[in-house]
Order: sequence, then structure tokens, then C-alpha cells
Amino acid sequence: MISVFKRFQKYQKQNKMVHKIALFNHKGGVSKTTTTFNLGWMLASKGKRVILVDTDPQCNLTGIALKEETEDDEARIEKIYDTHSNIKTGLAPAFESQPRAIQAVDCIPIQGQEGLFLLPGHVGFAEYEVTLGIAQELSGSIQTLKNLPGAISDLLEKTANKFNADYILIDMSPSLGAINQNLLMTSDFFLVPTTADFFSVMAIDSLSRILPKWCAWARMASVNHILKEATYPFPEFNLKFLGTIVQNYRIIRGKETAAFQTWIEKIENTVTHKLLPVLEQNNLLLPKQVYTEQGMSSSFTMTKISNFNSLIALSQEHSTPVYALTIEQLRQTGIVRENNQAKQEEFKKTFSDLADKIIALSSSYAVSA
Ligand SMILES: Nc1ncnc2c1ncn2[C@@H]1O[C@H](COP(=O)(O)OP(=O)(O)OP(=O)(O)O)[C@@H](O)[C@H]1O
Ligand SMILES: [Mg+2]
Repeated sequence: MISVFKRFQKYQKQNKMVHKIALFNHKGGVSKTTTTFNLGWMLASKGKRVILVDTDPQCNLTGIALKEETEDDEARIEKIYDTHSNIKTGLAPAFESQPRAIQAVDCIPIQGQEGLFLLPGHVGFAEYEVTLGIAQELSGSIQTLKNLPGAISDLLEKTANKFNADYILIDMSPSLGAINQNLLMTSDFFLVPTTADFFSVMAIDSLSRILPKWCAWARMASVNHILKEATYPFPEFNLKFLGTIVQNYRIIRGKETAAFQTWIEKIENTVTHKLLPVLEQNNLLLPKQVYTEQGMSSSFTMTKISNFNSLIALSQEHSTPVYALTIEQLRQTGIVRENNQAKQEEFKKTFSDLADKIIALSSSYAVSA
């Protein structure tokens, strides 16, 4: 009897539900990577076990998360590009037809925050883009490619199990390629970071055009027999939208406040009038009251984050979020330090509230699903 119970506990532990959250916007430089790092750290500080996944061949997240042990930039970059276990080595068994199964990646514990791990990126990950694109186009009609569409999802699930993760945050590259199509369509949730400018309005518009195509593909792939019976089965399609994050750090002709406000309104309007109908038609929304309970309206703005100013440079230097830099790391005195400490408190609250919303939205779905 006891052994049955133990087996059940083990089963429960192995099948603990991890929430995979993709941070996606094909527009570059909208703070996907910075938000992944600051948000992931905050979730971990609230007791969650979190894996940050760097899927961008630029490896910026790996660069921020790995604490530098050298002053020499070249040596630091070498270290970032040369992790022994990363997204590319993890997928190599499937993509390079190696005679071994995909195994969990040896994530790197991120220094300074318990329960936070990095699944490193690799500059060569982009080499898998074309093969994955062909595999996704053919969706199982060529036997040798059938294991690829489910491979990334399999790697992330195995890694989540190994590290007993509650959350996986996926930092994506700024592209509409096959890898991003796969990452987004096999995630549980997605967040869209934006900056308050015209390019982000354009990006929300084009996202509204691309999502129906990607969703149609994912629905088809998730019921395709060949893909379902592959070594790495294509998962069920269950993606849900969490919301947008507006970062207002771009200075437009020195008149940030008024100009930002205009762009924030334009982004919110584009979400309400163009993106929302697409989300509804493709069943990408949680029940409406889940959002309203979190104070979100039909613009789905989760939070607005202002300019980190000098804190961003220190954050990158010390591989520490803007709100968690210590007095020693700030290296400032007097009024400058006081101002920065006040800003840090503000950012801490912003990220703490954002993390609470994400926990509430994602767990509401787990209960209702
Ligand atoms: N709130 C902020 N205040 C000031 N600077 C910021 C803020 N958020 C991000 N940045 C800076 O803006 C730049 C772009 O941010 P980041 O690299 O996170 O964007 P990204 O969306 O990941 O870019 P990419 O699309 O190239 O991957 C970086 O130099 C980062 O340090
Ligand atoms: Mg990035």
C-alpha cells in the first residue's frame, strides 16, 4: 500500500505542471531579454523554481545571466558562447540524427538568487531554423523529419522535470522564423513586450496577421498522427495570451512624456481593435474575468515600465536585476544614490506586481483546465 502511495507521489512530482511562458515580439529591442531576467528573478524570489531559456542566437540573456569572472570582454564572450550544455547541444540528438535520445539540459544556477536557472543559448542554434522550417511545412509526411516539431517541447519538459521547475520563461529572438513559430505554439502562455513607439504598433498589427496562420498550423500538427506518434510527440495546442508590457524608455525628441502617452494609447488601441478579435477567434484568451480580477482591461496591458536610466548599465555589469543591486554595486553616494534607491523600490514593486499577476493568471488556468 505504502509503495503504491510513494509511486503516486513520485508520479505527481514528475508530472508537476510547469508553466511555459514565451516572451515574444518579432520587433527587436523591446526589452524581451531584460524583462525575462528581471521577471524570472522576481518569480524565484517569491519561492518559484524558474528556468530562463535563451533561444536567441544573439545569446544576450546568457550574457546577462552568467556572472562575469573576468574583466576581459573577449574572454567573457568566449565563456558565453562556449557553454557545454545549451539549447543547441540539447537538441542535437534530434536535429543531427545522433544515436541517443534528447536529455535534460544541465542548466546553470544563476548566482545571487536561489531557485533560478539558465538554459544557455547558442550562436549556432540558428543553423536548425531551415531544417525545422521544412519539417513544419511537411508536418510529418517525411518520416526522417517527423521527430523535429516536438523536439524543443520535449527538451524543455525534460529539463523542467529535472530541475523541478514551476516556470519556464522563454526569451525569443526578434524574428518570425520557424523556431519562433514552434516555440510560441508549444508554449502555455505568451507575453508581448513592447516599447512606446510606432514600430511596436506595427508589430502588434503584423502579429494579428501571423497568429491565425501559426495557430492553424499548430492545431493541425497537434492532431497529426505521424507527429503524435513520433519519438518526440508534438504537444497539445493550449496557448493562452497573458498580456502586453509597455516599456517607455525611448526618448522621442526630448519630449518623452506627451509623446509616450500618445504611443501607449495607440498600442492599447491596436491591441483592442486588431489583436483582441484574433485572440478570440483562435481561442487564445483565458476567461475574461481572470484578467479583470487582475485589474486588466481590453487593452491587456499588464504593466508599464519606465526608463531604468543608469541602473541598466549596473544591472548588466553585475548580472543582477535593476531592483536587486546592492549599495556596493551602486557605487554611488549622496543624492544620486538616494534617487537610485528610490527608483529601485519603484521597480521592485513594478516587477513584484507583474510576477503576482502572472502567478494568478497562470494558476487560474491550471485550475480551470
Ligand atoms: N526599461 C528600460 N530602461 C532603459 N533601458 C532598457 C529598458 N529595458 C531594456 N533596456 C535596454 O534596451 C536595449 C534592448 O533591450 P533588450 O535587449 O532587453 O531587448 P530585446 O527585445 O531582448 O532585444 P532583441 O529583440 O534584440 O532580442 C538594451 O540595451 C537594454 O539594456
Ligand atoms: Mg533579446
